Amino acid sequence: MRFDILTLFPHMFSSPFRESILGKAVDKGLIQIQTVDIRDFALDKHRVVDDTPYGGGQGMVMKVEPIARAIEWVKSQSPSAWTIYLTPQGKQFNQEIARALSSRSHLVLLCGRYEGVDERVREFFADEEISIGDYVLAGGELAAMVIIDAVSRLLPGVLGSDRSAEEDSFSNSVLEYPQYTRPSDFRGSSVPEVLLSGNHSAIFLWRRREALRRTLVRRPDLLAKANLSDEDKKLLEEILQKNRADKSEDGV
Ligand code: 6GU
Repeated sequence: MRFDILTLFPHMFSSPFRESILGKAVDKGLIQIQTVDIRDFALDKHRVVDDTPYGGGQGMVMKVEPIARAIEWVKSQSPSAWTIYLTPQGKQFNQEIARALSSRSHLVLLCGRYEGVDERVREFFADEEISIGDYVLAGGELAAMVIIDAVSRLLPGVLGSDRSAEEDSFSNSVLEYPQYTRPSDFRGSSVPEVLLSGNHSAIFLWRRREALRRTLVRRPDLLAKANLSDEDKKLLEEILQKNRADKSEDGV
């Protein structure tokens, strides 16, 4: 899968894609990431990429022509590329969108800066607009990194063969169970006995119960849309019953 990042700050991307899982995916040729400096597509010798807004007001607006020329240059190499404009006004990114994007062969990620881009960029070039959450970043660059990370790890071969992205939190709307490794006792806090027991069915059941408990406490909104088995529902009912019992013991 190929990613082209259109940005005024290509240096921001020099290290994130060299490390760890993404670095290996690049080395293996599973993903190709190219940064495109929008300034290289400016029309004038001063390489101006922004201007004051028509109608007045604070700040600067990114000009349409350099962005148009950059996108057209990328698309001339790959006409089917899907263009995403990164903006706090976009649809909020989540695992479902990551999954949908992972089926495409080429994404173009346009990073906005300043007060945004000329509206005609949206009109002519954005296939989709995405935000990564309800807060304001200085630009779309970090959002592009988030999307590339989330999408890449869904591609075949990017995670080790023994790991499945489908087991992750959110893939099935249930958070992950607690994990432990050595030492078995840290400052008096010991690893749950069952994990040391070697009893695989007991471990499986404990993990599922703890995953459900954790989701119930932290993200009850996820449980509402989760695809729960009869066994899950039974475990949840046990958890709720125990909670009620604990509460009445406290005299609440
Ligand atoms: Cl995509 N861009 C900016 N500038 N801020 C954001 C964002 C994007 N997503 C959340 N906040």
